[in-house]
Amino acid sequence: MEKKQWYKDKVFYQIWPRSFKDGNGDGMGDLLGVYEKLDYIKSLGCDGIWFSPLYPSPGVDCGYDISDYNDIAAEFGGMEAFKKVLEGAHERDMKVIMDLVVNHTSTEHEWFKKSRERIEPYTDYYIWRPAKSNGKLPNNWDSLFEGKAWAWDEVRNEYYMHLFAIEQADLNMDNPLVREEVKNILRFWLDMGVDGFREDVITFISKKEGLPDDRIMPASKGIGYYNHGPRLHEYLEEFHRDVFSHYDCMVLAEAPMINPKKALEYIDENNNPVLDMMIQFATQEADCLFTDFNHIPFSLRKLKRAYSNWQNGLEGRGWNMLYIENHDHPRMVSRYGSEKFRRESAKMLAVSYLFLKGTPFVYQGQEIGMSNWYPSDPEMYEDVQTRWQYFNVGTKRSPEKRLQRLWHGSRDSARTPVQWSAEPNAGFTTGEPWFYVNENYVDVNVASQEQDADSVLNFYRKAIALRKALSCVRHGDYREYNKLSSSLYTYSREDEKQKILVVCSYTEKEVPFKAPQGFDLASAELKLQNYAKADSALLKPYEVRVYLWEK
Ligand code: GLC
Ligand code: CA
Repeated sequence: MEKKQWYKDKVFYQIWPRSFKDGNGDGMGDLLGVYEKLDYIKSLGCDGIWFSPLYPSPGVDCGYDISDYNDIAAEFGGMEAFKKVLEGAHERDMKVIMDLVVNHTSTEHEWFKKSRERIEPYTDYYIWRPAKSNGKLPNNWDSLFEGKAWAWDEVRNEYYMHLFAIEQADLNMDNPLVREEVKNILRFWLDMGVDGFREDVITFISKKEGLPDDRIMPASKGIGYYNHGPRLHEYLEEFHRDVFSHYDCMVLAEAPMINPKKALEYIDENNNPVLDMMIQFATQEADCLFTDFNHIPFSLRKLKRAYSNWQNGLEGRGWNMLYIENHDHPRMVSRYGSEKFRRESAKMLAVSYLFLKGTPFVYQGQEIGMSNWYPSDPEMYEDVQTRWQYFNVGTKRSPEKRLQRLWHGSRDSARTPVQWSAEPNAGFTTGEPWFYVNENYVDVNVASQEQDADSVLNFYRKAIALRKALSCVRHGDYREYNKLSSSLYTYSREDEKQKILVVCSYTEKEVPFKAPQGFDLASAELKLQNYAKADSALLKPYEVRVYLWEK
């Protein structure tokens, strides 16, 4: 089947269902709520939706622990509600992609229950190992969420591997039966009309033969033996050959610790690609080391290197996925932007990535400049990874220091309910919300921003519309300027018809501004800006500008 690459012209909106909108008043976001907001999403200029998991799940990792791949959780409205949303989206010319989480299942999945009882054909569906003769764990790998990567199962009397939470058991992808299951799941949703998938930590599915001890990594032991493992490409190729190549669909793969060169092994359009796009992490690492919890001062130069590395590295061969926020990282206004200059910096951050080459994703709440959440008590955190970080890591430090670490690093900051209005619970629910609402909802909410022509929300609409109107953003060349500047990110995009210059200030100080050589501002049209007036020689705090030259 001929691939149409429709995804190259889309702007996606990511929905993390629990916190998007509650439609039935039980305090939990759901598909009824999504249905109500389809026109809102479309009004942003977004014409695709990525759903974080909607499947039945015990919720240990908020849905990334799936207990049934062929259904929609009752709390989200079940299959009927999903079909209604899918149809509603398609009527509006919006695509819908699902999250595919097959590195692991919930330990509540039927497969796991049968596997632990050694009921065929499920016996080898997971990665089971006996204890070593000295009673030790099968190897020294770490879980990325809690403790070591092995949990003892009383029923089977063996250990199973879990790279994430204890209740997320890793599937044995080397077993052909498991791969057939995956393909059946894919076909099930594609046949229903879903337009593609975001594949969760898919680069982890092939573990090194023999599961050797890791003698190199000080932390996250094992990652060098399961990330881009020996048979990963082979399995992705198999999924592509047997399923994806038969549908007009898009496949986006989450890929921690990847660089453009490695990405091209999977997405090079001139060389039998097995995936369409990859989610890189480099642009999330400008203020932390390895994970968001290890906070360091924000470095714009690090961020710019990451952007340019990906823009240049994939040029002409692969397609970028662009994002600044998702459900796994704290809010950007609080990280690379400024809460003091919330409105200005949210707009600047929008432009910083929306005019790059690739397909942009907007995460729920990002479009109104939602910021981080600062709970007073660690017990208020819900996320399994965050809780482990507080209660088990660096426990000699003072409670205040440990709590601050969570304020910087916890993904729960991105999981508070979307702030729809200044009504109680931010208009998210008429009931008791399942999670805390950020206290700033009275000031930061969709309803008030709808009324304000200068709001972050309306700026997103303008920026996305401009992006779509400019051919040079879709096709043009990318070039970066002022590379050594630690306060400005300046880039141009150019094709045969037009040229734009994007200038983003990442500082609350005023900075002198001079256009790069060859850009005559007098002949340009200033298409987008976040202050009422643009000074020709000075940039105000977090100022952003997009200049256009038509040829
Ligand atoms: C991915 C998801 C994250 C989840 C993890 C385990 O990184 O984005 O939310 O916790 O995989 O499934
Ligand atoms: Ca609900």
